[in-house]
Amino acid sequence: MTSADVRIFPNLEELSREVAREFESLAERATTAGRHFCAALSGGSTPRPLYEMLGGAGFRIPWSSVELFQVDERCVPPGDPQSNFRMLREALLDRAPVPNFHRMRAEDRDLDRAARDYATELERALGPQPGERPRLDFVLLGMGPDGHTASLFPGSPALGEELRWVCPNYVEKLKMYRLTLTFPVINAAERVVFLVAGSDKAESLREVLEDSETQLPAARVHPASGRLTWYVEQSAAELL
Ligand code: 6PG
Repeated sequence: MTSADVRIFPNLEELSREVAREFESLAERATTAGRHFCAALSGGSTPRPLYEMLGGAGFRIPWSSVELFQVDERCVPPGDPQSNFRMLREALLDRAPVPNFHRMRAEDRDLDRAARDYATELERALGPQPGERPRLDFVLLGMGPDGHTASLFPGSPALGEELRWVCPNYVEKLKMYRLTLTFPVINAAERVVFLVAGSDKAESLREVLEDSETQLPAARVHPASGRLTWYVEQSAAELL
């Protein structure tokens, strides 16, 4: 059995509420300490209920001292139905006062420039020492049925990126480019949480958590000096 920190919930709503509570607590703690809380959020569908909760009246998030980043973005216009920004805007940004949101400009025709500019935004907000990686307070990840996380897909070029913090990544099976944080930045974070739901992810989740030989990208998330927790809805945990 895995030694990973895995918390299983009967449904996505209860899972999302628990993660929202943790987000609120960590953000309040940072604010009390006089610091900004720097968080990077993934797209996809699983985290939408969480983002709706964070944008609702049930949680008191000190948004004025939160810097929100994106983990990854599809290379489409920001109003496109596939856009992670559009989902975040609908679920959270249009419903709560989030003054410090950093959008990935993945619609830019020059993706290397967009990646460099985003890395500069991370550097300005997090102020790493020269030669160090930016240390995000919180990174929220999902996992696809193929074991990808962020936009780090099996067999894709960005899997091997060790220097850049943000980079374009061509995803062959989707025939499209993405912009994504890289493993060096994800693994430098203080706190990393995965949200995984749905029986279609059960086999990949078993492999990531229990097969030490796995090559699935999600298995490469190991915060060097941070804490990692898997928040799993029970149908995704059925093979654990
Ligand atoms: C994206 C996400 C991606 C997502 C997984 C899971 O842009 O799609 O950042 O990494 O977390 O694909 O997506 P679901 O939550 O929709 O299953």
